[in-house]
Amino acid sequence: MDKINSLRGMPDFYSDDLISWTPVENKLEEVFRAFSIGEIRTPILEYTDLFKRSVGDTSDIVNKEIYSFDDRNDQSISLRPEGTAGVIRSVIEKKLDQQQSKFWYMGPMFRYERPQKGRYRQFHQAGVEFLGYQEGQADFELIALVCSIINGLDIKNAKLKINHLGDKDSKIQFARSLVTFLEPYKDQMDDKDIERLSKNPLRILDSKDKKVQEILENAPSLTDFISESANSLLASIQKTFADQCTIEIDNKLVRGLDYYTGLVFEACSSDLGAQDAFIGGGRYDNLAKALGGKDMPAIGLAVGLERLISISSVLRCDEKKVIFISSTSNITPLAFKIANKLRNANSNISLDMDLTDSSIKAKLRRANKTNATHAFIFGDEEMNNKSIIVKSLRDDNEQVSMSIDECIDFFKEI
Ligand code: HAM
Repeated sequence: MDKINSLRGMPDFYSDDLISWTPVENKLEEVFRAFSIGEIRTPILEYTDLFKRSVGDTSDIVNKEIYSFDDRNDQSISLRPEGTAGVIRSVIEKKLDQQQSKFWYMGPMFRYERPQKGRYRQFHQAGVEFLGYQEGQADFELIALVCSIINGLDIKNAKLKINHLGDKDSKIQFARSLVTFLEPYKDQMDDKDIERLSKNPLRILDSKDKKVQEILENAPSLTDFISESANSLLASIQKTFADQCTIEIDNKLVRGLDYYTGLVFEACSSDLGAQDAFIGGGRYDNLAKALGGKDMPAIGLAVGLERLISISSVLRCDEKKVIFISSTSNITPLAFKIANKLRNANSNISLDMDLTDSSIKAKLRRANKTNATHAFIFGDEEMNNKSIIVKSLRDDNEQVSMSIDECIDFFKEI
């Protein structure tokens, strides 16, 4: 029979991989709680229209990368490529779009991208959305959160790029002048950039083509179109957090989702290679209205967990572990009862019950190869006199026979 493989770009994770995930996820949750942000969980599947109207049907994400299919009712539904759209859909539905709220979420996202290091088709994000807050204080608070993530997770060589896209009008005016400037250079552009020029001109600023980047050096700058107050917001953010994070104002940063309006940002690390952004975010004041809700200014971010975990030096949580070995000459239900008494006495220790049919000797040999500190041996003799042998699996190899109560006390102290 042919074996069935996983889908490309959709990795499995085993305990050895996840051992570096848990401390990072815990630390992120700790930071979110320190900022008094509440959790939200939304479905992984949403109607496709939600993403068309939010992320935008001119964006690469919706155009080329979305996993969409018709359900049994012939409704087009999609795996979420990001978390913001679902959160806004939810708060509109619950009529929370008339108040201020702060949410965080964590979970899998799906994009049909070309898989490579740091880029997957199923990946994980931790996101934060501040809803109902005008430009100003919330922007500072969110950048403070970015700094706390970078410092709390001990990320080295990180740089935060910030930019301001202005309001709807300034964005349109700037796009127009960019198109006028770039039209004469069209024959020097590849198909992708020509398509961007007609569909979503601001995305050309993101072009990886060196020739286009050179042409853009003399192009009109976004700074000339946005207000004095927008420019001073950028300068003030840069100054305020200068001692916490390297911040660079980058007028070419436009981001790949259509819903952004004011401040946008991306945190990158040179330790990541080609896919170097591990946080992306910005303000999206028009999204709630575009999704049928009230006017609700908002700003948010998402952290790419695979990328963050690969560069975080937060300690791996080394769990304390012991092995419980019982006699196999006759299966002793009592062994399971005692093992559970131990587990109840100290839930910080992982007690691994050896369930194989091998001899106590073979079980001990295996235990010695693990990272367990002790073996608890419950053989025929111990069953008869209601005792347990506790054997150290570290250098000294010391072993002591204890009564069950003594053993429980010992277990509490490991
Ligand atoms: P985004 O920039 O598309 O923003 O994604 C945020 C982060 O997710 C990226 O910086 C990256 O670390 C990670 N990421 C994106 N695609 C992949 C992939 N294929 N494989 C691995 N990691 C990936 C958003 O998604 C917005 N919803 C952020 C936001 C929230 N803006 C406002 N609120």
